[in-house]
Amino acid sequence: MSNDRVHVNVQGQQGKPAPSAIKLSKTDSLKKVKMKIAVMSGKGGVGKSFVTMSLAVGFALRGLKVGVLDADIYGPTIPKLLGLTNTSLYLDDKRQVIIPAVGPLGIKVVSMDFLLPSEDTAVVWRGALVAKAVDDFLSNVDWGELDALLIDLPPGTGDAPLTMAQMLSDQMTGSVIVTIPSDVSMRIVKKSIDFSKKLKIPIIGIVENMCCFTCPESGKTYNIFGRGIGEEMAKQEGLQFLGRIPMDPRISEANDAGVPFLLKYPDIEAAQRVLEIVDKILEENKDKLSGQQRKTLSLMKLPGEEEDQS
Ligand SMILES: Nc1ncnc2c1ncn2[C@@H]1O[C@H](COP(=O)(O)OP(=O)(O)OP(=O)(O)O)[C@@H](O)[C@H]1O
Ligand SMILES: [Mg+2]
Repeated sequence: MSNDRVHVNVQGQQGKPAPSAIKLSKTDSLKKVKMKIAVMSGKGGVGKSFVTMSLAVGFALRGLKVGVLDADIYGPTIPKLLGLTNTSLYLDDKRQVIIPAVGPLGIKVVSMDFLLPSEDTAVVWRGALVAKAVDDFLSNVDWGELDALLIDLPPGTGDAPLTMAQMLSDQMTGSVIVTIPSDVSMRIVKKSIDFSKKLKIPIIGIVENMCCFTCPESGKTYNIFGRGIGEEMAKQEGLQFLGRIPMDPRISEANDAGVPFLLKYPDIEAAQRVLEIVDKILEENKDKLSGQQRKTLSLMKLPGEEEDQS
């Protein structure tokens, strides 16, 4: 097998068909993936990529084989969050498939970020090319056997997320919707719920990120954006509330350093909250993971040292 780096022409916009004319490939490449979960939010900056990465790490800590598809073509962040800078995707030219990069805990990652010549390069494609890239990522990647594939969708309910979601809708296990507890966020995030419903993607539940901040000195908790709005929204929409994740400067510090905070700060409250969300999702999808051995996790132990649960 000869592996070549995958190259793309980030200038190319000419001769593009209208988005509606794009013929999307029907793909088998996700057949061996047991759970396919899209992480979405109508709102930007609420922590979708952080939640995607954290769920991936959480699933991997529970002993699952995990992949992440960073479908945010214009603002790919997953490689940075997993410390995968200076990494490439490879092309198996015999089989004409893309081989994902491999991050911590063996997490397989595909992202536009790997294909850009520098960190600061902007993708200036119109919708049709984005659709083609996404199609390639979905149909021409050798994910192998995975228990869970997490898909970080771009913000909003526009062309790129729509294309992605349409391509995946019949295969998708479900979506996880991320919000922050503000009224403004709730209004926009509701569009995502509607979007998911219109595309017939089952909604697994709602995660409220940045719910609150506990001052390490006084121990007092502040609800910086608002209180309980994610849970209220879940109730209103008849959806499962998966949980809330506090704001913690150690999270943004770990994110910026490219080290998953679950590995760097396993004993902070946010880590416990994320693992509770992971367990709820696993519990709900245990039929899809049948045959998968659950592992008990001691956060004081290194991954791989956990005891199998009999
Ligand atoms: N619970 C948290 N505590 C502290 N920082 C957080 C938390 N969640 C996210 N962040 C930080 O907030 C910023 C935005 O997060 P992230 O990039 O995941 O949002 P996003 O919804 O994916 O944004 P976009 O819409 O641009 O894709 C990042 O700097 C991230 O490190
Ligand atoms: Mg993002």
